[in-house]
Amino acid sequence: MMDTTSARRASFWIETTPRTSFPPLQGSITVDVAVLGGGITGLTAAVLLKRLGKTVAVIEAHRIAEGVTGNTTAKVTSQHRLIYDWLIRRHGERKARLYARANETAIERIASFISEKGIVCDLSRLPAYVYTEVEGMLPRLRAEADAARRLGLPSSFVREVPLPFAVKGALRFDDQLQFHIRKYLLPLAEEIPGAGSYIFENTRAVGVREGIRCRVDTDRGRVISKDVILATHVPFLFKGQLWGKAIPRREYGISARIGPTPASEGMFINAESPTRSVRTAARDGHNVLIVVGESHKTGEEPDTERRYRRLEEWASSRFGVRDFENRWSTQDYFPVDGLPYVGRIGAGPGHVYVATAFRGWGLSNGTAAAMLLSDLITGRGNEWAELYDPARKSHLASTGFYKEGLEEAAHFVGDRVRVPESSPADVRAGEGRVIKVGGDHVAVYRDPGGEVHALSAVCSHLGCIVSWNPAERSWDCPCHGSRFGYDGEVLQGPAVRNLESKNLGP
Ligand SMILES: Cc1cc2nc3c(=O)[nH]c(=O)nc-3n(C[C@H](O)[C@H](O)[C@H](O)COP(=O)(O)OP(=O)(O)OC[C@H]3O[C@@H](n4cnc5c(N)ncnc54)[C@H](O)[C@@H]3O)c2cc1C
Ligand code: FES
Repeated sequence: MMDTTSARRASFWIETTPRTSFPPLQGSITVDVAVLGGGITGLTAAVLLKRLGKTVAVIEAHRIAEGVTGNTTAKVTSQHRLIYDWLIRRHGERKARLYARANETAIERIASFISEKGIVCDLSRLPAYVYTEVEGMLPRLRAEADAARRLGLPSSFVREVPLPFAVKGALRFDDQLQFHIRKYLLPLAEEIPGAGSYIFENTRAVGVREGIRCRVDTDRGRVISKDVILATHVPFLFKGQLWGKAIPRREYGISARIGPTPASEGMFINAESPTRSVRTAARDGHNVLIVVGESHKTGEEPDTERRYRRLEEWASSRFGVRDFENRWSTQDYFPVDGLPYVGRIGAGPGHVYVATAFRGWGLSNGTAAAMLLSDLITGRGNEWAELYDPARKSHLASTGFYKEGLEEAAHFVGDRVRVPESSPADVRAGEGRVIKVGGDHVAVYRDPGGEVHALSAVCSHLGCIVSWNPAERSWDCPCHGSRFGYDGEVLQGPAVRNLESKNLGP
């Protein structure tokens, strides 16, 4: 019987680096650019803008590089599974080429930061493989290899991959990067504070008023700036309503101790479902296997624990590992037309910018987004602007756009009707459940010690009913992916307000 219970609930990257301790914002400050969100997108944009002579303030609700960025697989590649053949058919060869170029340029931007600053972040240049174990997938892999080659990407179709199990074939991209994301980002972020620029942690932005001077309201104080970047993963503003054009999908990660393995010679992801994304890393002189996968739409999986079990069983059967060290999960947003949304949003003076929906490939896409936004804000041209334009209409032609709208409406209505009248006494220790009490939807969690934590089950974003995520002990919203702790605190937006607590009486 494998040891699955002792794995710690933190990402490998967060657990192997020190916590940051930037101060919270106090009072009111003025800078050129307010950057909301301290993930790879916000931090990279802040560094680039400061280098271009702007003063910046990074406003981070929790701690920097602990959001999706701190829970990633940390592959930096333009090989985004099967995408280029589809992009050419959907958006045309010119745009597919721009997407490839944006991501390749971002990889080299990251490599340059690392070399010019001498950042020690376990960097290696390795091939990235997308492999298949299914004969029927080979024609798609070959088509992807052809598409990638046409776009000038360093790709080839191969039969052999350095994995300890048989595959039918793979697409190989050469010269990609693998690193430790926080060992890269934390030293990079040290460049931000000073000379009129700041990083503020534990400071949540709750509103933005756009004007000649923009005003960012936070739960601590206020930032006045000429421009505002929303790098909060998904934007919380109603402007642009990007949460309606992007689908939140949760994914799970595990790490396990492993001896020498051929898998250290590459990074891997399969072409079929369920996803298995694999790489190795180093920890205290031993080798670690990282496997990520089991994606599902946020708020729609009642048994999240089984997702970890499946990953561990797979890692055990394919790599013979038993000694599991970490379990973590996080989510990314998937744009309905396949391309991230990066640029100015909304009508008006045009000083508010977003970057979101990276489709699970936000280390390169987020870096490209930061490069694009710093160019837009400093008035420099950038050929990627049209590709990523958040106001583009191509998402309207997507079936995903309408399907999402229908699913959201189904959640809004259906989840209300389905909930039974019940009593908190029916909720067992360790269980979380939405029940109806006197006509109100109440999210009830009874902790292992028997204490009941009762909250309004109505999401503070736009009013859908949240659902219980047992593995993370959180309330997750199936409409746009907001997440709340069992105490109601916002863990992930677009919500900016906590779930209201409920007093259920004696
Ligand atoms: C399981 C998984 C594995 C992945 N693996 C890879 C990979 O190998 N390679 C790759 O390229 N991509 C990968 N991705 C995608 C990539 O990690 C993300 O797209 C990227 O990290 C997103 O970065 P971000 O800066 O936009 O968001 P985040 O890192 O989430 O940063 C946003 C920050 O904003 C803060 N915030 C939110 N709301 C507010 C507010 N109101 N006020 C202030 N701050 C706020 C959050 O706390 C957070 O720190 C993966 C994604 C997943 C889900
Ligand atoms: S996240 Fe939008 S309604 Fe909950």
